[in-house]
Amino acid sequence: MPSPAPSLTTRTPADPAGRLDFPPGFLWGAATAAYQIEGAAAEGGRTPSIWDVFSRTPGKVHAGDTGDVATDHYHRYRDDVALMSELGLQAYRFSLSWSRIQPTGRGPAVQQGLDFYRRLVDELLEAGIRPVATLYHWDLPQELEDAGGWPVRETAERFGEYAAIAAEALGDRVGFWTTLNEPWCSAFLGYGSGVHAPGRTDPADALRAAHHLNLGHGRAVSALRAALPADATVSVTLNLHQVRPLTDRPADLDAARRIDAVGNRIFTGPMLDGSYPDDLRADTAHLLDWDALVRPGDEAAAAAPIDLLGINYYTPTLVSAPAEGERSEPGEAARNDAHGASDHSPWPGSEQVLFHLPPGELTAMNWAIDPSGLYDLITDVSRSHPGLPLMITENGAAFEDAPAPDGAVHDPQRIDYVHRHLAAVHRAVADGADVRGYFLWSLLDNFEWSYGYSRRFGAVYVDYATQRRTPKDSARWYARTVRDNAIPPVGDQG
Ligand code: FCB
Repeated sequence: MPSPAPSLTTRTPADPAGRLDFPPGFLWGAATAAYQIEGAAAEGGRTPSIWDVFSRTPGKVHAGDTGDVATDHYHRYRDDVALMSELGLQAYRFSLSWSRIQPTGRGPAVQQGLDFYRRLVDELLEAGIRPVATLYHWDLPQELEDAGGWPVRETAERFGEYAAIAAEALGDRVGFWTTLNEPWCSAFLGYGSGVHAPGRTDPADALRAAHHLNLGHGRAVSALRAALPADATVSVTLNLHQVRPLTDRPADLDAARRIDAVGNRIFTGPMLDGSYPDDLRADTAHLLDWDALVRPGDEAAAAAPIDLLGINYYTPTLVSAPAEGERSEPGEAARNDAHGASDHSPWPGSEQVLFHLPPGELTAMNWAIDPSGLYDLITDVSRSHPGLPLMITENGAAFEDAPAPDGAVHDPQRIDYVHRHLAAVHRAVADGADVRGYFLWSLLDNFEWSYGYSRRFGAVYVDYATQRRTPKDSARWYARTVRDNAIPPVGDQG
């Protein structure tokens, strides 16, 4: 990858309710992240990450849940790979725990940590499943946080070194790499609103974190290129916000522009276009001195070319300016955004923007279901960055799943959600977008960050008391979709 763009053989508009065939070679997978599934928090030389410390802090995570045990994947990875194989998955997107590999975030690697991932990858390869490794899915080693975390430049340099270690150890087996997962969440939920680890709430630090994530990404891309064979795929995954203005009033359009700047272009600017957008700098100039933060060469480093952009999409973002004369408090403005309640805004410089619940049925996260957002997002990115292959690296939904008396887990709403979103991907591809694959979030129910175990996103149900795994109806439906390289007709859930 990237080999030639797959394309649909026919440009005749497909019947959205009929069977929808995907291009040959379209990659089907499922995704997870280390802290959400591994458990074994103190085994194999692993030391605490910011998520261990945050989740143990009273009041931060629902019901005091932690990832200490999670789905015990560290011990059950063989069974989990067998499950993936049973479902016919072609690829598995997982993340490496930095503190399992390099516990202090510096210096030599711990062999046991690397060995765990080697065993996992070997198991996948033996099952014919392509490993897709993410270097960073939010779990910074606590020692690096104690030294300042992402708001300090050092962390970006450490991340580049860690990327080199991981690529040297696993590059003979893993050909598909992602530097960061959703750096927006790391920067703005971690250091802005504080609903994610490490739970800090300083708008300037959140912006500094974003810059050092961009720089760290660039350092990691260079390190991966240096260590990996030439045909390896190097990517990043962003949770691009599909921002929509409530009305076409100029003030609402400006609110959407602002959120697009600090939600999306703060990453796509340096990573894909080589510089921070001027409007972002202007919107946030009162918070920090960008010229002091961004050193000569930083933007060029962040723009190290990637082979593919991963997109995570769940729900669109609907915004407006406060009505004339109305002033909103930051906490109030953020209340309706999809990222969790806090008195502190995750939108530095644009705290006054109001967030609205978009129309549509809601998932258990209170996220509106709107597949048109995914279609629009893919087509927008395709237009703004032609020639850049895309992959949907996360999409899925939480619902109140529970085993029925017969022991099965019936989740027709999840089937419907995935079906409609895949139909949106299909339509974007038919319209010319270069989307190479789709990863369902998630393989298993797991630790959903500040919601703990109270939200279930898995295609496979996990009984946390026994760690028993039960594929939900959606897992069977997805397995069939993967096998046929096609979404079955609407209503055909067999
Ligand atoms: C994404 C995260 C993933 C999961 C889903 C629901 O933002 O990348 O870990 O929590 O949301």
